[in-house]
Amino acid sequence: MNIKDLVLKKERQEKITMLTCYDSTFAELLERCKLDSILVGDSLGMVIKGDKTTLTVSLDEIKYHLKCVSTKSSNTFLIVDMPFSTFQENPEKTFFHAAKLMDSGAQMVKLEGGAWLLETIEFLTTRGVPVCTHLGMLPQSIHKIGCYRKFGSSEHEKELLVKTATSLENAGSELLILELVNSKTSKQITEVLKIPTVGIGSGKFVDGQVLVLYDILGIGKKLSFAKDFLSESNSIEECIKNYIQSVKKGMFPEN
Ligand code: KIV
Repeated sequence: MNIKDLVLKKERQEKITMLTCYDSTFAELLERCKLDSILVGDSLGMVIKGDKTTLTVSLDEIKYHLKCVSTKSSNTFLIVDMPFSTFQENPEKTFFHAAKLMDSGAQMVKLEGGAWLLETIEFLTTRGVPVCTHLGMLPQSIHKIGCYRKFGSSEHEKELLVKTATSLENAGSELLILELVNSKTSKQITEVLKIPTVGIGSGKFVDGQVLVLYDILGIGKKLSFAKDFLSESNSIEECIKNYIQSVKKGMFPEN
């Protein structure tokens, strides 16, 4: 799997399947289940370290988990989050940090944020580092936003999100994660962009879905947009396959 395969999936209107993963045992299982893409997310700050936010994750910590995952995920497209404070300063330092993650097996780095990232995206992509961007709810900005909430419900926010998504694509972003984005807005973004969109809590009219692995196993927080697939399955492997099939058939999410 590579980014071109994901773009082909969008063109063929086949849904992209993605889950977070932080260790080699699950990475091997996800690969066996033929998941398209793994995200080594900085959600590990909350679900692995037990912290209140994702802000505490360091470059060394995410690199450690990335290495664990990459040893067993040679056929699954591997994306890694750039942790808070590793990409905000300037494009040169961001490249230096991103290169360490590419060295550890990442095929793409994910940056949370909007228009202020344009110069950095261009800098990274022209130097061979593929970039995924992340709009809507930005967990790394939780202290600025104040709480987890839906984005893109007002006309103003909708217009801003569509405009920002377009400029991220033009700057070189090759994939876009939409977190907690109003479903009509994520549909419009998905229709306007050539690059694939992958949603979490953003409705069904996107090119793919991502969830935190522990949420489909029913051991995460009880989130309204997530689903415990394990309670309807006989094993963890069956649970992962059920998630993949539900996304592929457009049965998850329901709306
Ligand atoms: O860190 C993470 O798990 C994420 C997903 C919520 C998309 O960014």
